[in-house]
Amino acid sequence: MRVTRAVHGAAKILVTGAAGQVGTLVVDQANARGIPVRAVTSSELDITDAGAVADAIEPGIVVVNCAAYTAVDAAESDEQAATAVNGAGPGNLATACAQVGSRLIHVSTDYVFAGDATTPYETSAPTAPATAYGRTKLAGEIAVHRALPTAHVVRTAWVYSGVGSDFVATMRRLEAQRETIDVVHDQVGSPTYAADLAAGLLDLAEAPNVSAPILHATNAGQASWYELARAVFAEIGADPERVRPCTSAQFPRPAPRPAYSVLSNRSWIDAGLPPLRPWKEALVESLAARPPETA
Ligand SMILES: NC(=O)c1ccc[n+]([C@@H]2O[C@H](COP(=O)([O-])OP(=O)(O)OC[C@H]3O[C@@H](n4cnc5c(N)ncnc54)[C@H](OP(=O)(O)O)[C@@H]3O)[C@@H](O)[C@H]2O)c1
Repeated sequence: MRVTRAVHGAAKILVTGAAGQVGTLVVDQANARGIPVRAVTSSELDITDAGAVADAIEPGIVVVNCAAYTAVDAAESDEQAATAVNGAGPGNLATACAQVGSRLIHVSTDYVFAGDATTPYETSAPTAPATAYGRTKLAGEIAVHRALPTAHVVRTAWVYSGVGSDFVATMRRLEAQRETIDVVHDQVGSPTYAADLAAGLLDLAEAPNVSAPILHATNAGQASWYELARAVFAEIGADPERVRPCTSAQFPRPAPRPAYSVLSNRSWIDAGLPPLRPWKEALVESLAARPPETA
């Protein structure tokens, strides 16, 4: 992924994992807002290296941690490596921020929940991860708040930017390649446009008086993957009937996916932050923003 790097004087925001899907957009949008930003990729700052992390964090900045081990299925057989990045890494960042008086915004996930709810998860809902990835992300949340109780953990879900191999880009590509596609209808969540999440993270970075330790940030509303795929088809002028519903049982994966992991946006609104728009509005804009990928 493309990395935009701009440092105007002293960096006010440090973005870790800056070559990732969310990190890239946080950096781009910080530049667009005129916020001094320093972007560090995994090769420039490995967050599992406590010494390097301590050296990188200056006093009085806001660290936005977008670095993570995000291979959900691979984590099932590689939990130790995932724990180093998702558990110990954020702990290193929090410790270093606490030492110099910097703020930390740490991105986490709906996978910290069991994923069997029937109404949206509030931030106070009990955590019970069902996957290795979820366990490692929960370990990160705990490590962050142990070292820096004022840090913000921002849980998000179902993030796409419409490029590469994300779900929206894949549906768009498959539409051009196949007559019909089967998509699971028994997993429900909140599709979240990475650009909207990035804007939300910057809104939080620019709001020093928000004190909530845990926040949920997703586009509003809910959908199944099947409904999301149909919406992609409809929006690009293809017949949504070409998307056919199937069940998760027909597509077993190493890490079980949550059946229902919609995150409530109440915490975000209560914090006085601008709510992220409904998912379908964001999807329409994301599709308009990019030409289809054919490769
Ligand atoms: N994508 C989703 O649907 C989703 C849903 C819920 C929550 N989240 C959370 O959102 C955040 C951002 O995810 P994303 O979608 O932007 O993921 P991503 O595209 O996989 O980006 C993660 C970035 O972290 C970097 N990284 C990995 N190990 C590192 C280390 N030890 N030190 C520093 N950087 C390291 C990766 O670099 P390399 O590529 O070089 O390894 C990559 O650039 C993560 O916390 C993730 O858990 C994502």
